Amino acid sequence: MSNNYDFNVKRKRPEEIYSDVSDYFKGEILEQYASSKSIMKTQEEITIRALELLNLERDDLLILDAGSGPGFTAMYLNEIGYKTVAIDLISEFLNYYDIKELNPIVADMCLPPFKPSTFDAIISISALQWIYRDIENQQMSLMLKSLSKSFFQILKPNSRVVIQFYPKSKKILENIGKIITESTGFHGNFIIDHPNSQRKRKIYLLLEKET
Ligand SMILES: C[S@@+](CC[C@H](N)C(=O)[O-])C[C@H]1O[C@@H](n2cnc3c(N)ncnc32)[C@H](O)[C@@H]1O
Repeated sequence: MSNNYDFNVKRKRPEEIYSDVSDYFKGEILEQYASSKSIMKTQEEITIRALELLNLERDDLLILDAGSGPGFTAMYLNEIGYKTVAIDLISEFLNYYDIKELNPIVADMCLPPFKPSTFDAIISISALQWIYRDIENQQMSLMLKSLSKSFFQILKPNSRVVIQFYPKSKKILENIGKIITESTGFHGNFIIDHPNSQRKRKIYLLLEKET
């Protein structure tokens, strides 16, 4: 993996413009996202890669899709035989398709309402940049800590989490790794696909609960 990539993000992203994700994903934007076949295909490809990283040994497992949006990841997981729970803050996303079999729940992924050791794996695709995007913001650090501790708790022992996301800078990426490993017993590392192409680059954080 090359370390020479740079972020150089010139255009402001929605998560820098809107402080609250539900102010962005509503009305036409929500409709465009949820109905887009190309977004569905891209999110499915990212999910396939996330599964490769999780390297699960069985397919009758329960997986949490955290920040599921309309449920593209959970739909794919369900299609190939996994049981899922899909959580998102935005109820309109969870109601966009009929996804009852994916067990949709409106909830904050930083405060997920589940008992300890519930899930065999957690996948979160393209959501974390909404939670932690400003290194000066203490509230965001606290929410990230809460997410990390919660994920650690609700995951079964010897299980893994994959979080794919779009950090704005290398500093944010590094802080995320630091905050998560310092506040939990997770061991982990970043996997960066296509590191030198800003268009194709995909960043995954793979975390393992070893106990
Ligand atoms: C770009 S969408 C990605 C949705 C979906 N994972 C996908 O791959 O299509 C980001 C999603 O993260 C959700 N999200 C952001 N912050 C969240 C939080 N704290 N708890 C739950 N969901 C959150 C948003 O509501 C939104 O649906």
